[in-house]
Amino acid sequence: MTYKEIAARELKPGLLQLDGISRTSVEAHYRLYQGYVSKRNEILGKLASVELAAANQVYSDLRALKVDLTFAIGGIKNHELYFEHLGGSGGDPTGAVGRLIQRDFGSTEAWRADLKATGIAGRGWAWTAYDWDERRLFNYIGDAQNTFPVWNATPLVALDVYEHAYFLDYQTDRGAYIDAFFANLDWNVVNGWVDAYRIPTD
Ligand SMILES: [Fe+2]
Repeated sequence: MTYKEIAARELKPGLLQLDGISRTSVEAHYRLYQGYVSKRNEILGKLASVELAAANQVYSDLRALKVDLTFAIGGIKNHELYFEHLGGSGGDPTGAVGRLIQRDFGSTEAWRADLKATGIAGRGWAWTAYDWDERRLFNYIGDAQNTFPVWNATPLVALDVYEHAYFLDYQTDRGAYIDAFFANLDWNVVNGWVDAYRIPTD
């Protein structure tokens, strides 16, 4: 099995000047993301020479590496979404994503209330994603980097609710952090994804 090493994406300078999420918090958070990237590379390196004949469902190197690979890759993808779509001025969603949210949740307020509640109920993540089979948005819940995404859905908003995302700034007040998250969303970035993935809006 061959693989290519990947490098961590650079942190956008604007991420160090968020409204209500401190520079110290973002810098520490970015270091965690760098850790996911290096572990992904390390795991794929080890998988390149793993002994296939020793595969075993109770314990085997193959099993351990492949299970933890999903955690590392989830950590990469989740955080690349998270960092990329922060740095904006929040407010109501505009453009295509605004129309999708209006259509599938009834109103911006209903979407925001549902995502916030999903983030309070989750232990790691809440995502607004477009399900290509159901052809609609839904707010999914996650307990870790690798739980519980569903197949054939494209995440458009990724709300990190791990304590590392907010404890420094808000201690245990996750709700206040979620409000700050909404206030820093960049809807232009999200609309860029809707466009790039050709998500139908009618
Ligand atoms: Fe995180």
